[in-house]
Amino acid sequence: MTFHGKTVVVTGVSSGIGADTAKLMRLQGARVIGIDRNSPTLSLDGFVRADLSEKAAIDDAIAMLPDHVDALANIAGVPGTVPADTVARVNFLGLRHLTLKLIERMPEGAAVVNISSALGRQWADRLPEHRALAETPSFEAGLAWLTDYPPPQDTYYQYMKEALIVWTLTQSQKIYLERGIRVNCVAPGAVFTPILGNFVQMLGQDHVAKEAGRVKRPAFSDEIASVVAFLCSDAARGISGVNLPVDGGLSSTYI
Ligand SMILES: NC(=O)c1ccc[n+]([C@@H]2O[C@H](COP(=O)([O-])OP(=O)(O)OC[C@H]3O[C@@H](n4cnc5c(N)ncnc54)[C@H](O)[C@@H]3O)[C@@H](O)[C@H]2O)c1
Repeated sequence: MTFHGKTVVVTGVSSGIGADTAKLMRLQGARVIGIDRNSPTLSLDGFVRADLSEKAAIDDAIAMLPDHVDALANIAGVPGTVPADTVARVNFLGLRHLTLKLIERMPEGAAVVNISSALGRQWADRLPEHRALAETPSFEAGLAWLTDYPPPQDTYYQYMKEALIVWTLTQSQKIYLERGIRVNCVAPGAVFTPILGNFVQMLGQDHVAKEAGRVKRPAFSDEIASVVAFLCSDAARGISGVNLPVDGGLSSTYI
């Protein structure tokens, strides 16, 4: 796996999975441009500060990105302990807006990887709603749809990760056939990053204690980063339209 001569954009680059992904891909030769609302703590080839919950800020960020991008890793995300509107904007609507704009600058053979979550595993239960949300034509139309059809507050984070999975799966083949660009999701289980505590708060101690026996341990963020890098690389050139669990076997325990 090599990224020599490739330009990669990584969102959420200033912490956790995004920081480890950027580091790994730079080590493999990529020119990495990071995006985050916070300053990065690692060496990058470029950095754009942006609040990915705001469409105008995303548009400004896009204007500062290179004309040619070989891969986009959409890693920025917020937990369900922040206001629902922010979860919708960052984890789905902003990500979608950035992706649709940036793929215009991507050549055939490029790749997009979105970070979903093991918590998005029940996407099929709400498929008609997620299909309808996926079909909204813009950031604003998505926000309006969510006002008309408000998701349950107690599973808002899960709902938005489900929405991301359904959007990825339903759009990926069209993008692949028309443009030769692969689009996939990586679905981590619990990962040791600064927001792990927020997930415990979001799910409740009882739920977490009950589920804990399903896996050996939470992942380290480099264990997610290596899979993101793989899916961005030519080594994964036959893979498009998947939501790949990287959860230490968690998803297999729900069968
Ligand atoms: N940590 C886990 O247990 C876990 C599990 C499953 C999925 N995920 C997902 O992994 C992704 C990465 O999370 P992480 O665990 O590395 O968390 P993290 O908090 O370490 O990193 C998230 C990064 O996103 C950035 N970010 C958040 N909101 C932003 C905004 N509005 N504009 C720009 N940047 C913004 C943050 O500044 C931060 O650098 C998220 O999408 C998260 O939902 C995490």
